[in-house]
Amino acid sequence: MTRKFISIICAAATLTAIADEKILFDFEDYSVGDKVAMRDYYSEDGSTASKAEITNDPTGKPGKVLHVKNASWNTLAELNLTGVTAEDIADGYGLIAFDLYRPNTETDHYRQFRCGIGDEYLHNVDNEFVFQGETGKWVSRTYPINPVNTTSDKFYIGFNSIDMEYYLDNIRIISTESDYDMTNPEETLRHHADKCGIGFGCAVPAWNDDVVDDNNIAAQTIYSNFNIIVGENQMKPAYLQPEKGKFSWWDADRLVGLAERHGMEIRGHTLVWHSQTLPWVTSDGYKNDKGNGGKGYTRDELLKIMKDHITTVMTRYKGKIREWDVVNECLDDDQSIVYSQPSKYNMRKSVWYNVIGEDFLDSAFVYAHRADPEAILYINDYGADFKGDAKTEAYYNLVKRLLKSNIPVHGVGFQCHLGLGVDAAKFENNVKRYADLGVEVSLTELDITTWEAGNYEQHIRQGEDYKALMDVALKHDHIRNFVVWGVTDDKSWRSPDPLLFNSEYKPKYAFFALRNTLEAWANEHAAGIEETISDKNQATSPFVNVYDITGRLVKHGLERGQINSLEPGLYIIDRKKILIR
Ligand code: XIL
Repeated sequence: MTRKFISIICAAATLTAIADEKILFDFEDYSVGDKVAMRDYYSEDGSTASKAEITNDPTGKPGKVLHVKNASWNTLAELNLTGVTAEDIADGYGLIAFDLYRPNTETDHYRQFRCGIGDEYLHNVDNEFVFQGETGKWVSRTYPINPVNTTSDKFYIGFNSIDMEYYLDNIRIISTESDYDMTNPEETLRHHADKCGIGFGCAVPAWNDDVVDDNNIAAQTIYSNFNIIVGENQMKPAYLQPEKGKFSWWDADRLVGLAERHGMEIRGHTLVWHSQTLPWVTSDGYKNDKGNGGKGYTRDELLKIMKDHITTVMTRYKGKIREWDVVNECLDDDQSIVYSQPSKYNMRKSVWYNVIGEDFLDSAFVYAHRADPEAILYINDYGADFKGDAKTEAYYNLVKRLLKSNIPVHGVGFQCHLGLGVDAAKFENNVKRYADLGVEVSLTELDITTWEAGNYEQHIRQGEDYKALMDVALKHDHIRNFVVWGVTDDKSWRSPDPLLFNSEYKPKYAFFALRNTLEAWANEHAAGIEETISDKNQATSPFVNVYDITGRLVKHGLERGQINSLEPGLYIIDRKKILIR
């Protein structure tokens, strides 16, 4: 009874499952009233006050379930495994899951769950009392399982308690080994991201020779799944201009080549930064100690150095790079200033700031705009992702200041180096206000660390976090790119396990969580187009739905007479492409 892609209802969110699942017990082949044995592990004669029997679903839904009234410690329901052996369970199935219903009379939420085969524990939470979810409704619980080494066909499951009543259904095991066929576009992330019209990207690890070989799995994984790439290090000032006036294009060119061969866009990262910056300007990003025999450069000299670097790099890649992180991480970490002066911000005391002043920022954007007027120019920073954090507010203040000064800033990058438990609502509350400033927004370096390497339960939570951020990105049209900082966990600059693929390029839970999200979004919006196509009356209807060319709904129910008031661009209206000038 193997099912692919069935739904697990997780405690917090509904997410489509990703892996093979085997149902062990759904109780449909029992009869209502059947008694199920309870095993009391410490009772000498096997007797127990605990009782279990098959009943109808307590919420009135069709189907049978197991009803347990626990009245003794260490007592679990005893079921006979059929069709599945202990060996099967040990082989690749890393999780046990089940649906749990507890009546409203249950008030103690923290309960200890156990299950096992024969005398071996599949899952043992000794001394660990876990929140079992709300009462009065079905919730789904998932636990990692230990491999067992037994031939027993007796399966035990339940809560260790002297006073607990609960119902169980759909006891199942879930495979933690998963794969996809990257030669089938439908199974890749890129295919669905393209349909959603979102830039879905990754940082390409530096010095990775593999990415120049299109048959190498690293390159294949990248061009099959992403439509925009960024060099993890290849375009940083230290690598592009290691010596004054001597540029080294080797790795940056290879990155551009990969993108060109596979129709991916490119983010350029980065032109002005304190870290990995021109080593002949500063020894540490802060001290002005490399020019003039260690005495440093003057303001005018440093402005020229900045201008020459920006101009040379952007000119070489003009028309090839969609967008540049012009200035990276220019804010100080301490932004407590916003508590007393809410419209202020503190600049990082980098060599650029120290020698040139805050206007190094303004100049950098102006030089960049002159070098390639078509490029989208980004400011980029970290720790400014969630509304309410001091640095987040400072970043917003800084962007407003730049725009007020008419500086050509077109995009605001949020690095999003995060850990499990992402507050997507706070992220949304932060980034949505940038739409009113007329700039686009991107998640530029997203990674989400877990707490412990190889913990599949945490990979599931991580997938939910990735999904929640993607939901936000798809919801707002001014969010342009969703870029993850690397490909495989083992090559990430962070740990543990922050990315979408494991070291063998196998997709992790987050991969499927994102793919499902993108696919569902694209389907919903493609359905919008089909509606238009099948609705023969549409052409005469006084209202129209307006889609962009990727099928993304731009305006719902626009008065036909207002079509010309749309922003210039290409739209799909009444099944036809319409160019508004
Ligand atoms: C990191 C790279 O991932 C590492 O390989 C390198 O050693 C250091 O830089 N913010 C940024 C990125 O803007 O450029 C950084 O990338 C991560 C933090």
